[in-house]
Amino acid sequence: MNRGPRVARTVPALRRAVAGLRKTGGSVALVPTMGALHAGHLALVRAAKKRARRVVVSIFVNPAQFAPNEDFASYPRRFAADLKVLAEAKVDLVWAPSQAVMYPDGFATQIAPAGAAQAGLEDKFRPHFFGGVATVVAKLFTQVGPDVALFGQKDYQQLRVVTQMAADIDLPVTVVGIPTVRERDGLALSSRNAYLSADERRNAPVLYRVLKQGAARIKRGEPPASVLSEGAAEIMRAGFTLDYLEARHARTLAPVSARQGGPIRLLVAARIGQTRLIDNIAV
Ligand code: PAJ
Repeated sequence: MNRGPRVARTVPALRRAVAGLRKTGGSVALVPTMGALHAGHLALVRAAKKRARRVVVSIFVNPAQFAPNEDFASYPRRFAADLKVLAEAKVDLVWAPSQAVMYPDGFATQIAPAGAAQAGLEDKFRPHFFGGVATVVAKLFTQVGPDVALFGQKDYQQLRVVTQMAADIDLPVTVVGIPTVRERDGLALSSRNAYLSADERRNAPVLYRVLKQGAARIKRGEPPASVLSEGAAEIMRAGFTLDYLEARHARTLAPVSARQGGPIRLLVAARIGQTRLIDNIAV
């Protein structure tokens, strides 16, 4: 019987376990998560196994990246079920620190990312978010010391921010972005999809539909501005409140107004009922 992955709950226990993995196995990959694992997370685990001999998955619902009015308290927590799927995925080690381990009394340091973290996308609606993400991911990287870390392109601005942070503070880790895993109707998998009512769920694929059609039209030479304003109208007709639908430079996330402005990424965030969804696509 598979007894499942080892679980480390303190930094010294984690360091001992990772040292053990390195002694017997070579390179180490880290997949940071907040748990409530779905097929998107498992795609990162599979990609991790291809890139490193050993795979560590962290599960930590990071209070520092939620604003007081956001869903920290109600964020789904399913540790036992998560451990089971990680056992099936043959993960070597689960890093599951408590809040007190991650942020002990007196904790006083923040990473303050700029650049892509101030692009005016997620940061505009969640001003605390990337400081919280960059700080916890920097800690996860120094705690685990992975050779490679895998992140989903689903959270595209986060991927850019984390990549830049690791480079800027010289962390010896390669950050790799993995394509978004979707439902059959195109909706990007997300732990927050569980919040959608049946009606909202039926309307949710509009986001990916608009991104896909928009990318195709911009590729054919149509101007991004008109394509995006039609897309915005379609998203609002489906019952969403639109936070943004924008064309940005795929690396810097700076605004671009024409296809010649560089590799383009279309990014969207929209709210329906209690749920806020994000998605993006390459042009
Ligand atoms: P979480 O939302 O649990 O996501 C963990 C990782 O899974 C992220 O890299 C995210 O981009 C990726 N992911 C989520 N849905 C995906 C999908 N449909 N396809 C592919 N990858 C997907 O993102 C976080 O946690 C946190 O901010 C974290 C980085 C762990 C820091 O707290």
